[in-house]
Amino acid sequence: MSNNIGIHDLEAATAHYVLPLDALAEAHGIDPAKFHRGLGQDRFSVPAPDEDVVTMAATAASRLLARHPEHHVRMVIFATETGVDQSKSAGVFLHGLIGLGPHVRTVEYKQACYAGTAGIQAALGHIARYPDEQVLVVASDIARYALDSSGEPTQGAGAVAMLISADPALVAIEPQSGLYTADVNDFWRPNDSSTPFVEGKLSMDAYIEATLGSWDDFTARRELKVTDVDRFIHHQPFTKMARKAHAALAAHTGVELGDELIEESMTYNRQLGNAYTASMYFGLAAQLHADTDLTGKRLGFFSYGSGAVAEFFTGVVQEGYRAHLDAAAAVKELSGREEIDYPTYRALHEGYRGASEDYDVDAVTQAPFRFTGVKDRVRHYAAR
Ligand code: HMG
Repeated sequence: MSNNIGIHDLEAATAHYVLPLDALAEAHGIDPAKFHRGLGQDRFSVPAPDEDVVTMAATAASRLLARHPEHHVRMVIFATETGVDQSKSAGVFLHGLIGLGPHVRTVEYKQACYAGTAGIQAALGHIARYPDEQVLVVASDIARYALDSSGEPTQGAGAVAMLISADPALVAIEPQSGLYTADVNDFWRPNDSSTPFVEGKLSMDAYIEATLGSWDDFTARRELKVTDVDRFIHHQPFTKMARKAHAALAAHTGVELGDELIEESMTYNRQLGNAYTASMYFGLAAQLHADTDLTGKRLGFFSYGSGAVAEFFTGVVQEGYRAHLDAAAAVKELSGREEIDYPTYRALHEGYRGASEDYDVDAVTQAPFRFTGVKDRVRHYAAR
């Protein structure tokens, strides 16, 4: 049994378009400072019609595995709350697109924004039992709220693919988690709706309660002081929410916790919007890609998914981690998005189509994989 298990490598991808929140503010007659300062968001990713969670996941995963041609992936866990089918796992579409062999366990996990963390924990268990194998965990989501709703400025889209293995190059996840589940109707998306229903204020309160609940459970099981954590990575539906959680943790523990403990983890999400399951892992990518050398430092992760489930866990940044990172690719992914105006964004939002009829989709994305349309109610994909 190996105990030194964790995130060996990671890679992020997002969607083709980006909408500046200034454009949304102007169209809605809102002071843009409400978005920039009030929510802590500047822009959000908007998928082209030929993109979805599968294409973003395949982009991130194919780039990741290209760096590991000798990989031993034995399990694929696809975490999403934007699944493309009620039965077939998005992971199976992904598996086919990136050309994995047949002898792989493939599954989709769902619990709002939390499922990526459930995927990582399952992967740790797998590697403890089979230390020579690896698990591909991909968190991929599209946060798409109703037009003109209060959640609209917190939309976004993105995927993070992670290779979980023994003796990881980036972050070794430490044993023990703090867990918290409560049945709350703060945010949900019924099967017949393409956008979620949200009780905004309740969702923020539920987030804080679950965060602190997971912390209390953790500290009841393992001796760890809040000052033993060098950086915190929070789930970031909008970056101001991470600041609120950080302040709540400081008040709860009675310890002053400076903004510098979370600041670097928020740089990507400000520009990306909410990527649900991928949000906290974009935070991890931003933190690892930042200039600060974190060798040997402990990261504290607060994962949250509405409904609600939270988990606090820790990881130690590994010696030499910087040599394994591709920060330039992540920055290019964000800066390479095509900026759109408000009417274009609105038309894209209104043009959303499910799989109830046959249609072809024009090629827009420059990413390696695209969604080509629906035939006989089957979704089709292609490499570009
Ligand atoms: P709202 O109507 O924009 O709220 O909805 P608000 O009027 O309270 O304004 C927001 C902030 O802007 C406030 O800051 C205002 O003061 C400030 P705060 O007081 O909270 O610090 N503000 C200004 N600041 C500067 N200049 C101005 C100005 N005007 C106002 N001129 C809400 C906000 C979050 C409710 C909405 O965006 C929403 O419904 N979002 C979706 C739900 C959500 O993200 N909830 C977060 C917790 S739940 C979660 O994280 C899970 C989730 O990711 C889903 C999942 O798990 O699957 C969402």
